[in-house]
Amino acid sequence: MNDRIITSEKLKEDSFESTIRPQTIDEYIGQKDIKENIKVFMEAAKMRGEALDHVLLYGPPGLGKTTLSYVIANEMNANIKTASGPTIEKTGDLAAILSSLEEGDVLFIDEIHRIPRFVEETLYSAMEDFSLDIIVGGEGANRNLRIDLPHFTLVGATTRAGDLSAPLRDRFGIVSKLNYYTEEEITEIIKRSSRVLNLVIEDEAAKELANRCRRTPRIANRLLKRVSDFALVKGDGTITLDITKFALDSLKVDKLGLDEVDYELLKTIIYKFNGGPVGVDAVAAAIGEEVSTIEDVCEPYLLQIGYLKRTPRGRMVTDIAYRHLGIDKNDKVV
Ligand SMILES: Nc1ncnc2c1ncn2[C@@H]1O[C@H](COP(=O)(O)OP(=O)(O)O)[C@@H](O)[C@H]1O
Ligand SMILES: [Mg+2]
Repeated sequence: MNDRIITSEKLKEDSFESTIRPQTIDEYIGQKDIKENIKVFMEAAKMRGEALDHVLLYGPPGLGKTTLSYVIANEMNANIKTASGPTIEKTGDLAAILSSLEEGDVLFIDEIHRIPRFVEETLYSAMEDFSLDIIVGGEGANRNLRIDLPHFTLVGATTRAGDLSAPLRDRFGIVSKLNYYTEEEITEIIKRSSRVLNLVIEDEAAKELANRCRRTPRIANRLLKRVSDFALVKGDGTITLDITKFALDSLKVDKLGLDEVDYELLKTIIYKFNGGPVGVDAVAAAIGEEVSTIEDVCEPYLLQIGYLKRTPRGRMVTDIAYRHLGIDKNDKVV
C-alpha cells in the first residue's frame, strides 16, 4: 500500500512536516491531559534543577509523538539527540549513543520497541542509575566496566507499547498514550498549518478536511497540501468547501477518511470470513498486506470509529460498518 494518501505512516512527501511542527507546548494543539501533566513535571524538574523524568509516548503513527519529544526538549532548554530502535542492533551502538550524552540532554529513541532485548538491558542501569555497564576484553579476560553517565531524559516513542518488555516500561516515570484528535482540535491544527503555509482556507473547508483525515495531524497536513494544489489549479487558490470535496473525492478518500484499502479490508472480512471473527494473519494473507501494516496503520482508526471490533477470537466487522458500506448483513455471502 505504498503511497496510500491516508496512511498515517510518514511518506517522502511529508518532508515539509518539520517546517510546520509546533515548537512549544502551547503551540502543540490537543492532547490536553498529556500536556497538562507534562507541563507540571517539566516545571517541577526545572524547580529542582534536575533533568525531566524519562517519558514514554505511545499511540498510532502521525499523532504527534516525535513532535512532542522535540517540544519537551525545547521547553526544557535541552539539546536533543535522536536514535531509532531498528538502528540500535548491538550493545555497542547503544553505548556509543549513551556516552555521547551531556548533562540534561534529551535522548529521543523512536520505535523503541524494536531494540533487541539483549541490548535493551543496557538501558536499564542507564535509565535508573545513570551508569553504563559494559563488558570489555574477550578471550576469557572479560571484565565489567562501569561508566557514569550525565543525567539525561530518555523520551521513547512507540506505536506498540505492548511489545515493550515490562522492565523497560517500568523504568519510565511518565507514560502517555496519544489519542486521536477531536474534530475541533484537528480543525485547529488544519487552520494553524494553513497559516504557517500561507494558505487561505474557508472554515467549512477546514471542517470537511477534519472529518476526512482520520483525526490524524500527519494525514490532515498531507491532505491540506493536496487540496491546496486543487485550489490553485481549479480555483483561485482559496481552499473552499467545494474544492475540498472535489479534491478528496478525486483522491478517493471518503467522508470518513476511508480509502480503497480500508474497503478491501472490511469487505474481505465480510465476504471471505463471514464478517469475522477472523485472525489478522488470515486477513493479511487474503489482501496481501503485512500483518504489521494492518495492525499499526489500518486497524487503529477502524477500531476507533467502531467499524471493527477486537474479540478474543479475532476481528469482527460491526453493524455500522455494514451500513457505511451499504451491505445487507443477511445477504452478505456471494
Ligand atoms: N498536537 C499537534 N499540533 C499541531 N500539529 C501537530 C500535532 N501533532 C502532530 N502535528 C503535526 O503532524 C505531523 C506528524 O506528527 P509526528 O510527531 O511526526 O507524529 P508521530 O511521531 O506520532 O508519528 C507533525 O509534523 C506536525 O506538523
Ligand atoms: Mg514519529
